[in-house]
Amino acid sequence: MDSTNRLLAERPDSPEGTTIVAEIQTAGRGRLGRTWESPWGSGVWMSVLVHPADQPRASWAWLPLVTALAVRDALALACDLDCGLKWPNDLVSGGDQVRKLGGILVEVVGADAVILGIGINMSLLSEELPTPAATSVLREGGTPDREAFIVALQGTLESRLRQWRSGQPPLADYRSACVTIGRQVSVRLPDGSELVGLAEGVADDGRLMVREGANTVIVAAGDVIHATI
Ligand code: BTN
Repeated sequence: MDSTNRLLAERPDSPEGTTIVAEIQTAGRGRLGRTWESPWGSGVWMSVLVHPADQPRASWAWLPLVTALAVRDALALACDLDCGLKWPNDLVSGGDQVRKLGGILVEVVGADAVILGIGINMSLLSEELPTPAATSVLREGGTPDREAFIVALQGTLESRLRQWRSGQPPLADYRSACVTIGRQVSVRLPDGSELVGLAEGVADDGRLMVREGANTVIVAAGDVIHATI
């Protein structure tokens, strides 16, 4: 299909948990209007529907981070891979050479439908990866078992969403998984400007705190580049 997010957006009244998984996407969508390479059979390209109207709108900002944690949990359980999170929700390999192995695109449709779009490079080989900054579960030494990952994710996502709905966003878990904290970063902001500074931490509402000179700037959305990449 073209994009699991696009197809699920046509069915916003489906029950929570409705999931579409593709073998290949011909027009996979990434964050910030980018495309997402989704070749045949070598990744998990899937979208899950959530109806979060029971929660205050301000707390929906946590959904991308909650999803990233659930994906990280499932990669550990099903693929034997320990990965980090680059703020807000990139799945990255550890160490100084931070490489992206997966990403999440959260889209709101109408008043009460949120689509959690999850893309994980599973068995792509080095020469098949779209950029040198990308990696895959296989390349990082994990087990690229797509079916086991999808099964595990059903449990981890349900449990992370329950935690979020209880009014206790998983802040401590997110902070310990987030490899952006403590790094020099450059952030491309939605208005096109660039912020360069030290990523001091993640605020209680999930936004990134960046110290630039004497000021701390709170970032709600942006594209973060770690200075070490
Ligand atoms: C990112 O840019 O990091 C987010 C990538 C999200 C890709 C996934 S693949 C399944 C779902 N369908 C899409 O079209 N995009 C998301």
